[in-house]
This record gives sequence, structure tokens and C-alpha cells, in this order.
Amino acid sequence: MTNPKLKIGIILGSTRDGRVSPQVGEWVKGIADQRGDADYEIVDIADYKLPFLGTTDGSEPGIAAWNQKLASLDGFVFVVQEYNHSITGALKNALDFAREAWNDKAAGIVSYGSTGGARAAEHLRGILGELKVADVRTHPTLSLFTDFENGSVFKPADLHQTNMTAMLDEVNAWSGALKTIR
Ligand SMILES: Cc1cc2nc3c(=O)[nH]c(=O)nc-3n(C[C@H](O)[C@H](O)[C@H](O)COP(=O)(O)O)c2cc1C
Repeated sequence: MTNPKLKIGIILGSTRDGRVSPQVGEWVKGIADQRGDADYEIVDIADYKLPFLGTTDGSEPGIAAWNQKLASLDGFVFVVQEYNHSITGALKNALDFAREAWNDKAAGIVSYGSTGGARAAEHLRGILGELKVADVRTHPTLSLFTDFENGSVFKPADLHQTNMTAMLDEVNAWSGALKTIR
């Protein structure tokens, strides 16, 4: 019997009105789907309507749904945008709202910002270590100046395709390996 395909979630890290992350997420999914090696889906934090951690009794259905969604996934691609040299508050809140559902899985990061979102991505790597998520090395970095028209219409340069392929190769290999220890 063949192993079922890995399930990889493409997590949109921003939730604000007018965000560009859905455009980037669709681009990631388009490249990923062509591979046929895993089931890729976009996971939009905004859909879960998570409250701010610690401000409610935790009974909002979105909290359980968020944990169930993460638990159903074998790996992640984080679409990360840089806010004040770090990740968004929404992504940090969503990361904090789960624990075991993250553990022993792999992740890749695609980031954007004025310097490719590099500072936000490096902050995320520190957080992922605590959540026992193994973050892969290859990291496509998109520039707000050259990969977006007017900072809002996503038009990625061709060169990112190579990095995307390498990153997805790594996420798949590590997601498959880590599945064996869960
Ligand atoms: C509150 C805030 C802070 C920001 N700080 C930075 C920053 O420190 N570095 C940077 O490169 N871009 C920064 N930006 C620009 C964002 O990276 C850019 O607006 C990007 O499109 C945000 O992603 P989103 O459209 O998916 O929300 C900031 C944007 C916001 C809203």
C-alpha cells in the first residue's frame, strides 16, 4: 500500500484589510500544486477569528478549529510579512494558540518586505524552535520594491522559482521524515 500524500498548509501570516498575502499564497500554491507530491492548501488565519490570547475563556470555536486544522497537517509554508522588523501580531497570536499540533513537523518560509522580510523570518525561526517545528534552510525572499508593483500588485521575478522549488523539496523531505516520529 502506498503512503498517503503529505498535507502541507500554506499559512497566510497577515490579516489586515488590503493585505497582499493572499496573492503570495496563491503563487506559492500554484507552484506547489504543479509538483503533485503533496496536498497543499491555503490556511488563512483570518478565517479562524482567533481572539487575542488570554482575553477570553477560550471557548471560541475558531480556537478548536485552528488546532484541528494544524493537527491535520504534516508541514507548513509560512507566508511571512515584515511588520516593525518582526512577524505580525496575528501570526504570533496564532502560533501561541497551539502547541502539540505544531510539534515534530517541518516548515519553510517565504517572506516579503523592504529587505525581503528577512528580519521577520529570522524571528519566526526562533519561535519555531520552541514549537518543535523544523524550519528548512532555503528561504525565498520577495522585495516590496521589485516583486510588487506599487507595493501592492504581486509580480514576482522569475529567479524566485528556483528557490521555491528547493524550499518545497526540503519541506517535503523533512515533513515525511518527521511523520515517522510522531
Ligand atoms: C504596522 C506595519 C509595520 C511595518 N513595518 C515594516 C518593517 O519594519 N519592515 C518592512 O520591510 N516593511 C514593513 N511594513 C511594510 C509591510 O511589509 C508591507 O506593507 C506588506 O505589504 C505587509 O504585508 P501584508 O500586505 O500581507 O499585510 C510594515 C507594515 C505595517 C502595516
